[in-house]
Amino acid sequence: MSIIFGAQDATVDYSVDGWGHLPALGPVSFQIEAGQFVCLVGPSGCGKSTLVRLLAGLQAPSAGLVTINNEPITQPSVQVGLMSQEANLMPWRSVIENIALPLELAGMSSSERGHAVNSILPRLGLEEFGNAFPGELSGGMAQRVALGRVLVASPDALLLDEPFGALDAMTRERMGMDLLALWTDLRPTVLMVTHSISEAVLLADRVLILSPRPGRIIADLHIDLLRPRQLSDTHSLRFGELARQVRERIQQS
Ligand SMILES: Nc1ncnc2c1ncn2[C@@H]1O[C@H](COP(=O)(O)OP(=O)(O)OP(=O)(O)O)[C@@H](O)[C@H]1O
Ligand SMILES: [Mg+2]
Repeated sequence: MSIIFGAQDATVDYSVDGWGHLPALGPVSFQIEAGQFVCLVGPSGCGKSTLVRLLAGLQAPSAGLVTINNEPITQPSVQVGLMSQEANLMPWRSVIENIALPLELAGMSSSERGHAVNSILPRLGLEEFGNAFPGELSGGMAQRVALGRVLVASPDALLLDEPFGALDAMTRERMGMDLLALWTDLRPTVLMVTHSISEAVLLADRVLILSPRPGRIIADLHIDLLRPRQLSDTHSLRFGELARQVRERIQQS
C-alpha cells in the first residue's frame, strides 16, 4: 500500500502545569504524496517532533486533522516506520535480535524472522556484525541497526526524526546516501526532520520550512536536482542556489 500523509489546519497545544497552554505547532496544512521524500526543517522547539508524533499516531492534534490516505490517524500503523535521534537499541540483544524485534512482537516465526533480517543486513552494510552487541558498535553502526529495525517490517512510509543528528559529518553524509539508495529501491513515502540544510537539499524532493514555535509552514520548496543524486551534486551551482533559498527563508522567519 502506498501512503499519502495529510494535515488540515492541525495544531498542538500542550498544557503546562501551573502555566496554561503552550501552542507548540500550527496550524499546518500539507499533503505528502506517495513515494515522495520530504525534509522538514525549522528552528529548535518549533514543533517538528510534535508533527512527527502526530503522523506516527502517537498523539492527536488539539485541533484540525492529520490523515493517512485521507483517513484520520487514530493510532500507530504497522505500515509507518518511526526512527528517532537515539538508536534506542536493547544492549542485551545482538544486532540480529534488535532488528528482528518488531517481527517478534508481531508473532512471526523464528525462521521467517531470520530470513527477513538476513535480507536486510547487507543493505545496511552490517552483514559481518549480525552477532555483535550494541556496546560493540560505533554510533553510525547503531543508527544503521535502528534503521534496519524500522525497515525490516517493510513499511510503506518512514518518519525519521533527525536520524543522523548525533553522527559526525562524514558518517552522516554516507548514511544519507545509503538511505537514498534504500529509498530508490523501496520507494516509501518519507518525512525526515533535519537541522542540516545541505542534507535536506541533497536528499529531498521537497523541503518544508517551519516558522519558530508554534511552527507553521512558511515555505514549501521543490528541489529540482536530477536523480540519482550523488555527494558531488553538493558542488553544483543549482545545489548552492537551493541551499541559499532554504537558508534565506529560515533567516526571514
Ligand atoms: N510533552 C510535552 N509537554 C509539554 N510541552 C512539550 C511537550 N513536548 C514538546 N513540548 C514543547 O513543544 C514545543 C515543540 O517541541 P518539539 O519537540 O516538537 O520541537 P522540535 O521542533 O522537535 O525541537 P528540536 O529541533 O529541538 O528537536 C517546545 O516548546 C517543547 O518545549
Ligand atoms: Mg525534535
